[in-house]
Amino acid sequence: MSKSQSIWVSRPLFPEVLASLAQYVDVHVETSEHKHTPEELREKLAEVDGAIIGLSDRIDDKVIAGNRRLRAIANLAVGYNNLDLPALTKAGILATNTPDVLNETTADYAWALLLAAARRVSSAERWLRAGEWRGGMRFDDWLGVDVHGKTLGILGMGRIGQAIARRAYGFGMPVLYHNRSRLPEAIERECRAEWVEKTALLKRADHLILVLPYNAQNHHAIGAPELALMKPTAVLVNIARGGIVDDAALAVALREGRVAAAGLDVFEGEPAVNPALRELNNAVLSPHIASASADTRRAMAQLAADNLLAALGYGPSAGHPPSLLNPEARARHDVET
Ligand code: DGY
Repeated sequence: MSKSQSIWVSRPLFPEVLASLAQYVDVHVETSEHKHTPEELREKLAEVDGAIIGLSDRIDDKVIAGNRRLRAIANLAVGYNNLDLPALTKAGILATNTPDVLNETTADYAWALLLAAARRVSSAERWLRAGEWRGGMRFDDWLGVDVHGKTLGILGMGRIGQAIARRAYGFGMPVLYHNRSRLPEAIERECRAEWVEKTALLKRADHLILVLPYNAQNHHAIGAPELALMKPTAVLVNIARGGIVDDAALAVALREGRVAAAGLDVFEGEPAVNPALRELNNAVLSPHIASASADTRRAMAQLAADNLLAALGYGPSAGHPPSLLNPEARARHDVET
């Protein structure tokens, strides 16, 4: 039976989440994964009241220009640098993201990358799979750098950064962090973390994890000058966003041994990856999967669905999407609906 509102889901999604949407709205879902052009996005969004979209879907003023129907966009991620929030707000389109449900899973993955890069897990596995072990192994082969007992630096101390910091206690690691604003003392105490200036963080951290949001100010927050301040024994982990690190400069630093290793889940211009990084054995590379556990990806999808239904006036939170990014859009939205 046709419902009064329609939504578009830009990528295949868990059937149970789609079923929860279909109770209320007509659901048009893409059956294969692909990057949509701005023109495709324009066309798809012109025909629906709401949409669930992914990080590769860039929604800006051009994509929504002249769209009188679209009322809500639910981003399938906590980061929302793919959304032009001012443009959506101006158009009265509610925008939501998926905070909190991924904090712990993403923090786990930051540690997975740190440990894998420090202890050379990926390159050792490649060597083993290639049958090289039979040729013998020296006692001083495959030496990595220690993680336990070292000083952990965290750049960007939001909820994911805090979850990473809490785990450091188990490794006996003091934690330094830098954030635009200092955290309340109670949280610093709980995370056993000390605020320092960015330069001090780069110089003092034995290993550094990046968890800051991407925006114009954070573009290349870690470039050649910052890499030059880091210890040559340090591991750099980026689970935040491509563009925060200058990947070309990092590749040079890794090749020259000015930074020991890197664990990278995000890349400038992904899914393309700088070829210089792909060649390096001291870089552990993964395809933006820090939040990809079965439970967490389901929780993110369900939260996006709940957000969208609520924004369109359905479900237990009707009218009050749990993770609304632009409450200012509401006035415009209410007038129009
Ligand atoms: C996010 O939610 O922003 C992650 O990067 C996507 O998994």
